[in-house]
Amino acid sequence: MAKSPPKFDTPNSPHPADLSNGQHITTDAGRPVSDIENSITAGRRGPVLQEDYIAFERLAHFNRERIPERVVHAKGVGAFGTFTVTHDITKYTRAKLFSKVGNTCEMLTRFSTVAGERGSADTNRDPRGFALKFYTEGGNWDLVGNNTPVFFVKDGLKFPDFIHSQKRDPRTNMRSKTMMWDFWSLMPESLHQVLILMSDRGTPYGIRHMHGYSSHTFSMFNADNVRTWVKFHFLTQQGIKNFTDAEAIEMAGLDPDFSANDLNDAITRGDFPKWKMFIQTMPDEQAATYKWNSFDVTKVWPHADFPLQEVGIFELNRMPENYHAFVEQAAYSPSNVVDGIGFSPDKMLQTRLLSYADAHRYRVGVNYEFLPANAPKAASHNNYHRDGAMALGNNGGSGPNYFPNSFNGPTEDKSVQEFAYPVEATEVRRYDRNAPGDDDHYTQPGDLFRLMTEKAQDDTIKNIVAHMDGIEGPKRKEIIERQLKLWFKVDEKLGKGVSAGLGVQVEGHELNGQMKPLHAKYAPPKPV
Ligand code: HEM
Repeated sequence: MAKSPPKFDTPNSPHPADLSNGQHITTDAGRPVSDIENSITAGRRGPVLQEDYIAFERLAHFNRERIPERVVHAKGVGAFGTFTVTHDITKYTRAKLFSKVGNTCEMLTRFSTVAGERGSADTNRDPRGFALKFYTEGGNWDLVGNNTPVFFVKDGLKFPDFIHSQKRDPRTNMRSKTMMWDFWSLMPESLHQVLILMSDRGTPYGIRHMHGYSSHTFSMFNADNVRTWVKFHFLTQQGIKNFTDAEAIEMAGLDPDFSANDLNDAITRGDFPKWKMFIQTMPDEQAATYKWNSFDVTKVWPHADFPLQEVGIFELNRMPENYHAFVEQAAYSPSNVVDGIGFSPDKMLQTRLLSYADAHRYRVGVNYEFLPANAPKAASHNNYHRDGAMALGNNGGSGPNYFPNSFNGPTEDKSVQEFAYPVEATEVRRYDRNAPGDDDHYTQPGDLFRLMTEKAQDDTIKNIVAHMDGIEGPKRKEIIERQLKLWFKVDEKLGKGVSAGLGVQVEGHELNGQMKPLHAKYAPPKPV
């Protein structure tokens, strides 16, 4: 049975964990209040007096209830859990968490859709965020992944463009398939992820039935300071289960909070969902010679070359007592690693290392790491950061606020130095990320398509046809043709299916009379 993390009930948190305590209502300053049903008025039916500051305090606090929603991944559900180490990986990492088989730690997880707003439907076709916070003895370790092993773009500089194409049209404020396919068709590096998104894995049956991935390559280093490249995989023990396109659309209307409800129901009835953690490892020196760029987040490491190695298991066993405190204010960052785990030169990962904490300082505030969801639980929090908005607790008290000092302030721990590594001695410049050697965007998605069952291939083609059929306006033909050429480069059958389904032929890939039957098979589904 899971150990419960400490209750959110410290002098720093004015609201006790449980407000069902029968105490008197107070103002925020603690003064008991006689009446919150009737404002103070001049006469029985007269106007409200300005001196009713109790009314104003209530209204003013209410007006400030919302913090900015996450710029992406705004809709999510969170749960606490427990991670247990089941296999020895000390040959790869000296991280305290992995020092012994049987070690456990508390976790806070959050699962999300990417593009929709805070109230959007859980079953929309979208990748799912898979964010894990491990409260380890060596500090908090965050793995902020998705339910897909790859991503749409491979340089963080392109992230805002990609997200703009998925969010709302600046004129109509509506989501636009034209924008999506315009961007994707101009960015062949997106093909691998778009193919996964268009398969039924793009509409998972809630949270419990999907895998999670770090997607990026990270590194581990051991007690002898030997580095290994690593990718993390979290395999659902509930089995993969997806909605079809039509089912997902229907569920968006029936229960827009499907994923949250499904997870909450399972945990409440004691059916704790579980995921096994696996790693793929690549020796340090192999990265330079492996046939694929090992740090390109649009590529996977084939399991045949890098088999999965089991590491541990986590279960989700407790829903947070308060959504805002533990889910909305939860702040994950790929930069939160611990000694024994490090980064890689993946350009996207490198960008993310700065982007998340920057987002949290804007969204939650500079002292976000002090909030109960984010503060270390199994480690302590000692440093010379001081002040700022909402400096919770005693802000370091009377202790020294500079280093070095002669007053017994916190000291450095030289045993946890970052891994020192050489970099390629070359010119500093903006290198073309798709230069020869990094420009094969087709083989891996093609292999994935050919690996699918015939039914999965058919469903994927149908989903693509239905989605691309939403491209509108004067550029429809141009965008469709450009994307079709990419699908043909991925796989001839895939190209033909989409081409026939949309009733658009591209030069060099004429359908030779197959247009009609294929068109009927892959025609966009009727709205449910
Ligand atoms: C959330 C930026 C790529 C997974 C976010 C947030 C930002 C962001 C600003 C909102 C953070 C917040 O306000 O709490 C970026 C940038 C990327 C990138 C700049 C590319 C350079 C990725 C990739 C993945 C990913 C490749 C997965 C492998 C997530 C997840 C969340 C998130 C799971 C939600 C975390 C939560 O539940 O709070 N991202 N992102 N992102 N991102 Fe990214």
